[in-house]
Amino acid sequence: MQQFTAPFSRHDFGDDFQWGVTISAFQNEGAHDKDGRGKSIWDTFAQRKGRIRDKSHARIATDFYHRYPQDLLLARQLGFSVFRFSISWTRILPNGTGAINPAGIAFYHRLIDACLELGLQPYVTLYHWDLPQALESRGGWCHRGVVFAFEEYVRIVVREYGDKVKHWIVLNEPFGFTSLGYMLGVHAPGKFGLSYFLPAVHHVVLAQAAGARVIRDEVKQAVIGTTYSCSHIVPYTQSEQDLQAARKADALFNRMFLEPALGMGYPVQDMPLLQRIERRYALWRDWDKMAFDFDFIGVQTYFPLVVRYNAFMPLIGISEVKPRYRKVPVTALGWEISASGMYAVLKQFAAYPGVRRIMVTEGGAAFHDQPNGAAVRDTARISYFQDYLGAVLQARKEGVPVDGYFAWTLTDNWEWAEGYRARFGLVYVDFNSQQRIIKDSGYWFKQLLTG
Ligand code: FCB
Repeated sequence: MQQFTAPFSRHDFGDDFQWGVTISAFQNEGAHDKDGRGKSIWDTFAQRKGRIRDKSHARIATDFYHRYPQDLLLARQLGFSVFRFSISWTRILPNGTGAINPAGIAFYHRLIDACLELGLQPYVTLYHWDLPQALESRGGWCHRGVVFAFEEYVRIVVREYGDKVKHWIVLNEPFGFTSLGYMLGVHAPGKFGLSYFLPAVHHVVLAQAAGARVIRDEVKQAVIGTTYSCSHIVPYTQSEQDLQAARKADALFNRMFLEPALGMGYPVQDMPLLQRIERRYALWRDWDKMAFDFDFIGVQTYFPLVVRYNAFMPLIGISEVKPRYRKVPVTALGWEISASGMYAVLKQFAAYPGVRRIMVTEGGAAFHDQPNGAAVRDTARISYFQDYLGAVLQARKEGVPVDGYFAWTLTDNWEWAEGYRARFGLVYVDFNSQQRIIKDSGYWFKQLLTG
């Protein structure tokens, strides 16, 4: 094995620091119609013309449903001790509510047992974007009924696995799936505009706290978190207009879901648009139902955002200054690489008195990986992890309570609207043969964690 050195060792992070690797159900499992699984919004969306860049679908994906024993072993061999995965709601409840699917229940028992046998601590995400299609047909996240359906699903799951699983993550990136799926229409379910977005935001905020409360009631020892996509927001210039644009973007991208959970309500001062939610739901008296005392907050920051005032942008009046106009290093998806952005976000989140612990529940980068015989020389990804982990270490040394880092992702998988083109794995997958090749970045982690 080639030797890789990092500018730090795992001991610098301390013995209590958790090292994990993350996947998600829809992006990995495949087996889309196996053992009674119901359809999710992503099954429907991927079938629509022109929605997925490479015209692919995730019916097989990485076939994790069948190959999980080998994949878990890989995670272990690379030195990780945490395995984060999500549960597919429609394997448990094919119609979203009502009849439970015993084969779905059995699958996650097998998966959890296999994690525990290998010494991988499971971190289970309850919702990683794959809403049951049956619920979407009744309005999805725009319909208040989804909150009750989510509570029912969470109760079933935690009653079933609560004595084996300690760590629970309620939602994966609420801003990600509401903005892309209900505002911009580029992710499932492909809805477009504020009349979808604002109700979806509010119901997701309610579900975030309601789901967490169900876990607290059912599993006494549970450690409960939820995750946020977040970006360090940088004003393009120091003009008052750009500074104000940056405050707006920060409220939208970083604060809109976190602050209600912390009992602070929506950040309406910096994002007046959110007053519409307050007006619309005034009669429901929802405001104290939005808070929950999370044990940890999951931070997922892939790129910073540079923003400026733009009078032509309807409603929000801001626009992004894309990395290509600024000549900064980017990944294969054009996402800016910025370890200082990682550092800034950690500092920003740690400054909230209500945030007691932070875990980086995802981090990683897509590059154009090419196997070369039995090797994949992804040096750019190694530098990425080196830089971002360096930022995490720096923040930790300065007292930020960041207690873990989970790499996104174990194997290349189905990257939503990008299809199979965007490879984020530490392990390369040939999607025709399902053969796995550990990339150099995988060996780099192995060296760091076991060397
Ligand atoms: C995050 C998602 C994850 C994956 C990575 C690249 O926003 O949570 O499923 O798509 O980005």
